[in-house]
Amino acid sequence: MAEALTSIPLTSLPRISQGKVRDLFSLPNDENPTLLFVTSDRISAYDVILKNGIPTKGAILTLLSAKWFEVLSSRVPGLKHHFLHLGPPPASGLSQDEQQMLRGRSMTVRRLKIFPIEAIVRGYVTGSAWAEYQKTQTIHGLPQPAGLKRCERLPKTIYTPSTKAELGDKDVNISPDEARGIVGDKYASRLEELALNCYNAGAAYAEERGIIIADTKFEFGLDEETDEIYLVDEVLTPDSSRFWSKADYESGRDQDSFDKQILRNWLTENGLKGKPDVEMTPDVVEKTKGRYTEVFKLMTGESLEVVLERTGN
Ligand SMILES: Nc1ncnc2c1ncn2[C@@H]1O[C@H](COP(=O)(O)OP(=O)(O)O)[C@@H](O)[C@H]1O
Ligand SMILES: [Mg+2]
Repeated sequence: MAEALTSIPLTSLPRISQGKVRDLFSLPNDENPTLLFVTSDRISAYDVILKNGIPTKGAILTLLSAKWFEVLSSRVPGLKHHFLHLGPPPASGLSQDEQQMLRGRSMTVRRLKIFPIEAIVRGYVTGSAWAEYQKTQTIHGLPQPAGLKRCERLPKTIYTPSTKAELGDKDVNISPDEARGIVGDKYASRLEELALNCYNAGAAYAEERGIIIADTKFEFGLDEETDEIYLVDEVLTPDSSRFWSKADYESGRDQDSFDKQILRNWLTENGLKGKPDVEMTPDVVEKTKGRYTEVFKLMTGESLEVVLERTGN
């Protein structure tokens, strides 16, 4: 199995930031500022990055997001997004080795001013929303009907934002009104509408392929020159969403999801939850890779190898 790439050894471009999973590099561009958005094979759980990574995860997340930008563009009226093309621009001066290292895992995007909230949308009650519902019959402060079961479909899809914490901090769930206070009246309603429309379009597309998108997180950015809102970041991946198998779904119990659940369970069972510098066993790596690979195939209808071959970079 190919080695996981947990750091991005790219020196030909200035690195402007590093998140839990991605490194961002600035690209020379006269007209619109652009970025090379590079996804590593790093994986985080409970807000901590694991010591080793999941081979090919960076390409899976990149190529799946690229697919979603295409699908959502045609299904969400008026949607603008940051994706320009896969890979770096042709004349960006990268070495052969660097280009090979980036294969499948980079995209050129518009550089935008990111709204400091996570635009979470929920179609089902699970995770922190289920915990809150059991206590107060609300989700992010929004009143819900009585008698919902664990993982049940919500009567209405809801927009449930959170704060966007700095690296190392935890996001905090907030109400749409609190989000309005953070992003301002001018943009709040449009962000909510776009997030709901993207979720609804994505959930319908996934359901045709046997996958339930229980919830997801979007990020949006602003082009300050034109005052237009863009969908940014990764989109509808197993890192940003909970994906369940439609065939196995049953409310009233927890669901197996196509994401980091194997890793989360292993961390909890071994008392490693939240600890730094944890190294996953080869078995956990292999099984997690299997889940990401499987969801890619289900969602796109093609294997990763086929898409990599076709897109080249
Ligand atoms: N078009 C864009 N312009 C500028 N920043 C972006 C853009 N799209 C995404 N980002 C930012 O890039 C970072 C992605 O890296 P990631 O490792 O996912 O970070 P995090 O640890 O915050 O999840 C996020 O901070 C996100 O807000
Ligand atoms: Mg992220």
